[in-house]
Amino acid sequence: SVEVVIVPDAVAGGELIAEAIVTLVRRKPDALLGVATGSTPLPIYQALAAKVRAGAVDASRARICQLDEYVGLPTGHPESYRSVVLREVVEPLGLGAESFMGPDGAAEDVPAACAAYDRALREAGGVDLQLLGIGTDGHIGFNEPCSSLASRTRIKTLTQQTREDNARFFDSLDEVPHHVITQGIGTILEARHLVLLATGEGKADAVAHAVEGPVAALVPASALQLHPHATVVVDEAAAAKL
Ligand code: GLP
Repeated sequence: SVEVVIVPDAVAGGELIAEAIVTLVRRKPDALLGVATGSTPLPIYQALAAKVRAGAVDASRARICQLDEYVGLPTGHPESYRSVVLREVVEPLGLGAESFMGPDGAAEDVPAACAAYDRALREAGGVDLQLLGIGTDGHIGFNEPCSSLASRTRIKTLTQQTREDNARFFDSLDEVPHHVITQGIGTILEARHLVLLATGEGKADAVAHAVEGPVAALVPASALQLHPHATVVVDEAAAAKL
Protein backbone atom coordinates (compact mmCIF):
# COMPACT_ATOMS: atom_id res chain seq x y z
CA SER A 1 0.00 0.00 0.00
CA VAL A 2 1.01 3.60 -0.50
CA GLU A 3 2.66 5.39 2.40
CA VAL A 4 1.02 8.81 2.87
CA VAL A 5 2.86 11.60 4.67
CA ILE A 6 0.96 14.80 5.45
CA VAL A 7 3.05 17.94 5.82
CA PRO A 8 1.94 21.49 6.76
CA ASP A 9 2.84 23.08 3.41
CA ALA A 10 4.78 22.81 0.16
CA VAL A 11 8.04 24.05 1.68
CA ALA A 12 7.91 21.34 4.36
CA GLY A 13 7.18 18.75 1.66
CA GLY A 14 10.16 19.93 -0.35
CA GLU A 15 12.39 19.80 2.71
CA LEU A 16 11.29 16.26 3.63
CA ILE A 17 11.82 14.88 0.13
CA ALA A 18 15.16 16.68 -0.29
CA GLU A 19 16.27 14.99 2.94
CA ALA A 20 15.28 11.59 1.51
CA ILE A 21 17.35 12.32 -1.61
CA VAL A 22 20.34 13.33 0.52
CA THR A 23 20.06 10.04 2.42
CA LEU A 24 19.95 8.13 -0.87
CA VAL A 25 22.98 9.92 -2.33
CA ARG A 26 25.02 9.37 0.85
CA ARG A 27 24.34 5.64 0.51
CA LYS A 28 24.69 5.56 -3.29
CA PRO A 29 26.73 8.50 -4.62
CA ASP A 30 25.95 7.76 -8.28
CA ALA A 31 22.21 7.34 -7.67
CA LEU A 32 19.94 7.93 -10.66
CA LEU A 33 17.30 10.47 -9.64
CA GLY A 34 14.21 10.76 -11.82
CA VAL A 35 12.80 14.27 -11.78
CA ALA A 36 9.40 15.71 -12.63
CA THR A 37 8.56 19.14 -13.96
CA GLY A 38 5.63 21.45 -13.18
CA SER A 39 5.41 23.88 -10.28
CA THR A 40 4.97 21.36 -7.48
CA PRO A 41 8.49 19.89 -7.23
CA LEU A 42 10.32 23.25 -7.27
CA PRO A 43 10.53 23.42 -3.43
CA ILE A 44 12.26 20.01 -3.51
CA TYR A 45 14.90 21.24 -5.96
CA GLN A 46 15.46 24.45 -3.99
CA ALA A 47 15.84 22.58 -0.69
CA LEU A 48 18.15 20.00 -2.27
CA ALA A 49 20.39 22.61 -3.91
CA ALA A 50 20.65 24.45 -0.57
CA LYS A 51 21.73 21.24 1.18
CA VAL A 52 24.33 20.50 -1.48
CA ARG A 53 25.69 24.06 -1.31
CA ALA A 54 25.86 23.77 2.48
CA GLY A 55 27.97 20.60 2.12
CA ALA A 56 25.38 18.21 3.59
CA VAL A 57 26.17 15.72 0.83
CA ASP A 58 28.56 15.32 -2.10
CA ALA A 59 26.19 15.08 -5.06
CA SER A 60 28.87 15.41 -7.73
CA ARG A 61 28.36 11.83 -8.97
CA ALA A 62 24.56 11.88 -8.87
CA ARG A 63 22.73 11.39 -12.16
CA ILE A 64 19.48 13.02 -13.21
CA CYS A 65 16.88 11.71 -15.65
CA GLN A 66 13.75 13.16 -17.13
CA LEU A 67 10.21 11.81 -16.78
CA ASP A 68 8.68 13.28 -19.91
CA GLU A 69 9.12 15.83 -22.68
CA TYR A 70 7.20 17.86 -25.22
CA VAL A 71 7.48 16.77 -28.84
CA GLY A 72 8.41 19.28 -31.50
CA LEU A 73 9.74 22.24 -29.52
CA PRO A 74 12.96 23.50 -31.07
CA THR A 75 16.12 22.32 -29.28
CA GLY A 76 16.91 24.77 -26.49
CA HIS A 77 13.34 26.12 -26.21
CA PRO A 78 13.17 27.50 -22.64
CA GLU A 79 10.02 25.50 -21.84
CA SER A 80 11.22 22.17 -23.19
CA TYR A 81 11.47 19.91 -20.17
CA ARG A 82 15.14 19.36 -20.97
CA SER A 83 15.73 23.11 -20.56
CA VAL A 84 13.58 23.21 -17.42
CA VAL A 85 15.42 20.31 -15.77
CA LEU A 86 18.83 21.72 -16.68
CA ARG A 87 17.81 25.13 -15.27
CA GLU A 88 15.93 24.00 -12.15
CA VAL A 89 17.84 20.87 -11.14
CA VAL A 90 21.09 20.10 -12.94
CA GLU A 91 22.72 23.54 -12.79
CA PRO A 92 21.67 24.43 -9.21
CA LEU A 93 23.17 21.10 -8.05
CA GLY A 94 26.44 22.04 -9.73
CA LEU A 95 26.19 19.12 -12.17
CA GLY A 96 27.04 19.20 -15.86
CA ALA A 97 24.90 18.20 -18.83
CA GLU A 98 26.78 14.86 -18.92
CA SER A 99 25.05 13.88 -15.64
CA PHE A 100 21.69 14.20 -17.31
CA MET A 101 19.58 12.00 -19.58
CA GLY A 102 16.24 12.58 -21.23
CA PRO A 103 14.19 11.62 -24.27
CA ASP A 104 14.81 13.51 -27.51
CA GLY A 105 11.64 15.51 -28.15
CA ALA A 106 13.13 16.95 -31.35
CA ALA A 107 13.91 13.54 -32.88
CA GLU A 108 12.75 12.86 -36.43
CA ASP A 109 11.79 9.32 -35.48
CA VAL A 110 9.90 9.82 -32.22
CA PRO A 111 8.94 6.15 -31.60
CA ALA A 112 12.62 5.20 -31.98
CA ALA A 113 13.60 7.98 -29.53
CA CYS A 114 11.04 6.63 -27.03
CA ALA A 115 12.35 3.07 -27.27
CA ALA A 116 15.93 4.31 -27.01
CA TYR A 117 15.17 6.24 -23.83
CA ASP A 118 13.33 3.32 -22.23
CA ARG A 119 16.37 1.14 -22.98
CA ALA A 120 18.81 3.79 -21.76
CA LEU A 121 17.10 3.93 -18.36
CA ARG A 122 17.56 0.18 -17.92
CA GLU A 123 21.15 0.28 -19.15
CA ALA A 124 21.86 3.04 -16.64
CA GLY A 125 20.89 0.57 -13.91
CA GLY A 126 17.35 1.79 -13.39
CA VAL A 127 15.98 4.79 -11.53
CA ASP A 128 16.70 4.79 -7.79
CA LEU A 129 14.15 7.41 -6.79
CA GLN A 130 11.51 8.82 -9.13
CA LEU A 131 9.86 12.09 -8.18
CA LEU A 132 6.32 12.56 -9.45
CA GLY A 133 3.69 15.25 -9.46
CA ILE A 134 0.06 14.59 -10.24
CA GLY A 135 -2.19 16.21 -12.83
CA THR A 136 -5.64 17.43 -11.83
CA ASP A 137 -7.00 14.45 -13.80
CA GLY A 138 -4.72 11.99 -11.97
CA HIS A 139 -2.00 11.76 -14.62
CA ILE A 140 1.63 11.00 -13.80
CA GLY A 141 4.34 12.06 -16.19
CA PHE A 142 2.19 12.65 -19.24
CA ASN A 143 0.28 9.39 -18.89
CA GLU A 144 -3.21 10.72 -19.35
CA PRO A 145 -6.30 8.82 -18.08
CA CYS A 146 -6.77 5.43 -19.80
CA SER A 147 -3.02 4.92 -20.31
CA SER A 148 -2.15 1.25 -19.96
CA LEU A 149 -0.77 0.47 -16.52
CA ALA A 150 1.88 -1.64 -18.32
CA SER A 151 2.83 1.09 -20.83
CA ARG A 152 6.42 1.82 -21.80
CA THR A 153 7.97 5.14 -22.87
CA ARG A 154 5.96 6.33 -25.88
CA ILE A 155 4.34 9.26 -27.65
CA LYS A 156 1.04 10.53 -26.24
CA THR A 157 -1.48 13.21 -27.16
CA LEU A 158 -2.30 15.70 -24.41
CA THR A 159 -5.87 16.25 -23.30
CA GLN A 160 -7.30 19.76 -23.65
CA GLN A 161 -7.36 19.99 -19.82
CA THR A 162 -3.62 19.30 -19.52
CA ARG A 163 -2.77 21.74 -22.32
CA GLU A 164 -4.82 24.40 -20.51
CA ASP A 165 -3.16 23.53 -17.17
CA ASN A 166 0.28 23.95 -18.77
CA ALA A 167 -0.53 27.03 -20.88
CA ARG A 168 0.76 29.28 -18.08
CA PHE A 169 4.32 28.35 -19.08
CA PHE A 170 3.77 29.56 -22.67
CA ASP A 171 2.68 32.85 -24.23
CA SER A 172 -0.62 31.34 -25.34
CA LEU A 173 -2.53 28.05 -25.37
CA ASP A 174 -1.74 27.70 -29.10
CA GLU A 175 1.94 27.33 -28.30
CA VAL A 176 1.46 24.33 -25.98
CA PRO A 177 2.46 21.23 -27.94
CA HIS A 178 -0.19 18.59 -28.58
CA HIS A 179 2.24 15.68 -28.39
CA VAL A 180 4.66 14.49 -25.74
CA ILE A 181 7.02 11.67 -24.90
CA THR A 182 6.46 10.16 -21.49
CA GLN A 183 7.91 7.30 -19.51
CA GLY A 184 5.12 4.74 -19.48
CA ILE A 185 3.41 3.68 -16.28
CA GLY A 186 5.18 0.31 -16.51
CA THR A 187 8.47 2.17 -16.95
CA ILE A 188 7.79 4.42 -13.93
CA LEU A 189 6.90 1.39 -11.79
CA GLU A 190 10.42 0.00 -12.36
CA ALA A 191 11.99 2.76 -10.28
CA ARG A 192 13.08 1.49 -6.86
CA HIS A 193 11.25 4.19 -4.91
CA LEU A 194 8.40 6.42 -6.11
CA VAL A 195 7.82 9.73 -4.34
CA LEU A 196 4.81 11.78 -5.38
CA LEU A 197 4.35 15.31 -4.07
CA ALA A 198 0.96 17.03 -4.31
CA THR A 199 0.13 20.42 -2.87
CA GLY A 200 -2.95 22.65 -2.93
CA GLU A 201 -6.68 22.00 -2.92
CA GLY A 202 -6.75 21.58 -6.70
CA LYS A 203 -5.06 18.19 -6.26
CA ALA A 204 -7.27 16.87 -3.44
CA ASP A 205 -9.64 14.86 -5.68
CA ALA A 206 -6.83 13.37 -7.74
CA VAL A 207 -4.90 12.39 -4.59
CA ALA A 208 -7.94 10.72 -3.00
CA HIS A 209 -8.66 8.73 -6.16
CA ALA A 210 -5.02 7.73 -6.54
CA VAL A 211 -4.48 6.62 -2.95
CA GLU A 212 -7.89 5.31 -1.86
CA GLY A 213 -9.68 4.49 -5.10
CA PRO A 214 -9.40 1.31 -7.13
CA VAL A 215 -6.28 0.74 -9.23
CA ALA A 216 -7.55 1.82 -12.63
CA ALA A 217 -6.20 3.13 -15.93
CA LEU A 218 -8.68 6.00 -15.55
CA VAL A 219 -6.50 7.30 -12.69
CA PRO A 220 -2.88 6.69 -13.77
CA ALA A 221 -1.50 7.69 -10.35
CA SER A 222 -3.44 4.79 -8.76
CA ALA A 223 -0.71 2.57 -10.24
CA LEU A 224 1.41 3.62 -7.25
CA GLN A 225 -0.66 1.13 -5.25
CA LEU A 226 1.01 -1.64 -7.29
CA HIS A 227 4.51 -0.55 -6.25
CA PRO A 228 6.29 -2.05 -3.23
CA HIS A 229 7.78 1.30 -2.16
CA ALA A 230 5.64 4.31 -3.00
CA THR A 231 5.38 7.43 -0.87
CA VAL A 232 2.84 10.21 -1.37
CA VAL A 233 3.67 13.49 0.35
CA VAL A 234 0.73 15.89 0.57
CA ASP A 235 0.09 19.22 2.24
CA GLU A 236 -3.07 19.71 4.31
CA ALA A 237 -5.02 21.09 1.34
CA ALA A 238 -4.18 18.22 -1.00
CA ALA A 239 -4.97 15.74 1.81
CA ALA A 240 -8.41 17.24 2.43
CA LYS A 241 -10.35 14.44 0.71
CA LEU A 242 -8.45 11.49 2.17
C1 GLP B 1 2.73 18.18 -16.18
C2 GLP B 1 3.90 17.22 -15.99
C3 GLP B 1 3.67 16.32 -14.79
C4 GLP B 1 3.27 17.16 -13.60
C5 GLP B 1 1.97 17.89 -13.90
C6 GLP B 1 1.45 18.70 -12.73
O1 GLP B 1 1.67 17.57 -16.83
N1 GLP B 1 4.12 16.42 -17.14
O2 GLP B 1 4.87 15.59 -14.52
O3 GLP B 1 3.09 16.32 -12.48
O4 GLP B 1 2.24 18.76 -15.00
O5 GLP B 1 2.10 19.95 -12.69
P1 GLP B 1 2.02 20.95 -11.48
O6 GLP B 1 2.90 20.39 -10.43
O7 GLP B 1 2.54 22.24 -12.02
O8 GLP B 1 0.59 21.02 -11.06
